[in-house]
Amino acid sequence: MAEPTKTAKLTIGEQAFDLPIHSPTAGPDVIDIRKLYGQAGVFTYDPGFTSTASCDSTITFIDGEKGELLHRGYPIDQLASKSHYLEVCFLLLYGYLPKAEELETFEGTITRHTMIHEQMVNFFRGFRRDAHPMAIMVGVVGAMAAFYHDSTDISDPRQREIASHRLIAKMPTIAAWAYKYSIGQPFVYPRNDLDYAANFLHMCFSVPAEEYVVDPILSRAMDRIFTLHADHEQNASTSTVRLASSSGANPFACIAAGIACLWGPAHGGANQACLEMLKQIGSPENIPEYIARAKDKNDPFRLMGFGHRVYKNFDPRAKVMKQSADEVLDLMGIENNPILATAKALEEAALKDEYFTEKKLFPNVDFYSGIILEAMGFPTSMFTPIFALSRTVGWVSQWKEMLNDPQNKIGRPRQLYLGETARDYVDIENR
Ligand code: SDX
Repeated sequence: MAEPTKTAKLTIGEQAFDLPIHSPTAGPDVIDIRKLYGQAGVFTYDPGFTSTASCDSTITFIDGEKGELLHRGYPIDQLASKSHYLEVCFLLLYGYLPKAEELETFEGTITRHTMIHEQMVNFFRGFRRDAHPMAIMVGVVGAMAAFYHDSTDISDPRQREIASHRLIAKMPTIAAWAYKYSIGQPFVYPRNDLDYAANFLHMCFSVPAEEYVVDPILSRAMDRIFTLHADHEQNASTSTVRLASSSGANPFACIAAGIACLWGPAHGGANQACLEMLKQIGSPENIPEYIARAKDKNDPFRLMGFGHRVYKNFDPRAKVMKQSADEVLDLMGIENNPILATAKALEEAALKDEYFTEKKLFPNVDFYSGIILEAMGFPTSMFTPIFALSRTVGWVSQWKEMLNDPQNKIGRPRQLYLGETARDYVDIENR
């Protein structure tokens, strides 16, 4: 990190404290409070970390006001239209766009790691058939910690790289098999002659009884969805992976923790919740009732797929996703899809309503993704596993960056204690 550029002055009573300010290459300055408790005997207080930078990073930059998202400096809309997911994986992992031969080597490595240890098949069979695929993914990815002992010494850069490749490569197989298990169909093994997205679609939708040919437009749309979800700065699940990894824990177990966090409806589970909400709304004429509910402080209902901790403008991923939704539905011959019609009417109505415009609640990445995934044939329960599959590269890239950071130390926040002060134990006969 560069030397501090400015100083913040903090006055507490008669005491004044100088706190260094670090300036970024883009985004807000940060006030360095690492020595604050030692100097002033006070903590800062920021539940939910709305105003707190937990680390420095060079991977992803978000400008919430402008609705800008950069991966290693490249705008997401350019990556979504000109690149493809495995090239974005290389970019996130290594920090630059690969030359042709580097990309070929990387894609070959990922392709040859897509199978999982055959013994792991047993883990799937231990679940009920109606288990949520995210429950299966948490369990099976965590179980990788019991198999791949030759890539868990996190002090060894080569083992870290192998663990990263294994996770990126095997996540589609695990997600596809969780889906197959839930519908009682046999597992379909990965094929090395298919690209990453086509391989995933093939593992999900092919059956032994007949040939399944992947539609190139669908696999392009699938690949674009993977790219749009690849990384997103220090979001809740990435912060979970960083915090779990800060204790030196097993990398596969840390990614399983990230999957668990992503599952929540306020985070990656929003795509499933959003489609279920759109179905509940049913048609555009019911929208006023739901907008009223979303605005009602006494009603816990929120418009799923709307709002974001960082974006106070359109989520740039939502814009690309909206274009993709139109393309996929046209391809699928799904004219006048009532869910898409409801989604577009809801977006239009919300963005005219001052409750949403004043609070800067715009559609986020989860608003349109579910519409595309449903049109592609996925059940809503598979939406978040697809998000987890896509975000694995972001988690491992941030994990790798943290382990390479000389400032890396175990994360251990403090608290504002509001409980009882010291008091003596009372024997039960005296209570
Ligand atoms: C993802 O962090 C990331 O980068 C995440 C992500 C990624 O790629 O990793 O982008 C992926 O998680 C996208 C977000 C998906 N979640 C949803 O779509 C769920 C619905 N959205 C919300 O629950 C909410 O907007 C959050 C969780 C996304 C953000 O919440 P914040 O920043 O904590 O904001 P808040 O809850 O404090 O809300 C601020 C105000 C509140 O009103 P007031 O108390 O100020 O009067 O806005 C209201 C909220 O009630 N509000 C909403 C709303 N979201 C916020 N009101 C109605 N509908 C909503 N969706």
